[in-house]
Amino acid sequence: MRNKISSTITKAVFPIAGLGTRFLPVTKASPKEMLPIVDKPLIQYAVEEAYAAGIRQMIFVTGRTKRAIEDHFDTAYELESILEYSQKQQLLESVRNVTPDDMHCMYVRQNRTLGLGHAILCAEKLVGDDDFAVILADDFMIAEQPVMAQMVEQYKRLQKSIIAVQNVPRTQTNLYGIVSGSEVQPGLFGMNNIVEKPLPDEAPSTMAVVGRYILAATIFEELRNQQPGIGGEIQLTDGIASLLKKERVFSYHFNGKRYDCGSKIGYLKAVVDIACSHPEVSGSFNSWLKNKVQSTHAQTTKQNQSDYFA
Ligand code: UTP
Repeated sequence: MRNKISSTITKAVFPIAGLGTRFLPVTKASPKEMLPIVDKPLIQYAVEEAYAAGIRQMIFVTGRTKRAIEDHFDTAYELESILEYSQKQQLLESVRNVTPDDMHCMYVRQNRTLGLGHAILCAEKLVGDDDFAVILADDFMIAEQPVMAQMVEQYKRLQKSIIAVQNVPRTQTNLYGIVSGSEVQPGLFGMNNIVEKPLPDEAPSTMAVVGRYILAATIFEELRNQQPGIGGEIQLTDGIASLLKKERVFSYHFNGKRYDCGSKIGYLKAVVDIACSHPEVSGSFNSWLKNKVQSTHAQTTKQNQSDYFA
């Protein structure tokens, strides 16, 4: 029997134990989640999103090669005193702001990469009986109201699991968990089905699960009872599918833009977009980018013409 204490979300789980093979060799010894979007790592954006949603307890499910993340959220006494001594106030603030005083970081290790569902199960003891958020840092989100804050707002009314979704082209359904359901209010759907990576012609819809979840603590029991699939992995999608048989689950079509920073192309798009509006570099970056696009365009036109007359 659960002894749920809070009617809002106070804890976020960040599963960061994955191998990041799509980014090898950079991820051989460094975490994918420390990849910078200009000057801030993906994981810091994810933690800031949770913080903006009122969450103060951050739980990281880590693995080998992830030590840099613990260091990033730790106090850097030596660096701080050097910056203080050299009166680099702005840089000092940027370092100190990584970990506000009221934020608490906890770490648990997933010692074998047995899937996202298993990673979340590793956080069970630290989460306890309360419902909780899950943020996948490599799904980088930009929104006027941060996406997790939008979801917590929905949760306060619903008190149920809420899964973020976005529409994808039908040709891509085999890359995502796909949900279907009926709209109960604009952007909010009562879920009736969830399947992992269906083929395009078998997908129940084109609504794809992306890396933001609010999960009822009852998910742990479902995950514990899952049979490991290919590679011994426990899939979160399967856990949500069994939860759905017992209680209501909602999917939420968030407002905002998502970059799949687990892929090289998604990561590059995120870096370029953020650089274009970055207060320090946007001016020179935008003019460099404009020249680059113009010269690439001119080169392509020239090449096409010479191919035509060849
Ligand atoms: P991905 O599917 O992106 O896997 O995991 P990955 O290992 O990070 O990257 P690739 O596919 O090898 O390039 C989605 C999220 O789940 C976490 C990852 O860290 C990532 O945030 N994860 C995945 C775990 O924490 N543990 C696992 O066993 C698997």
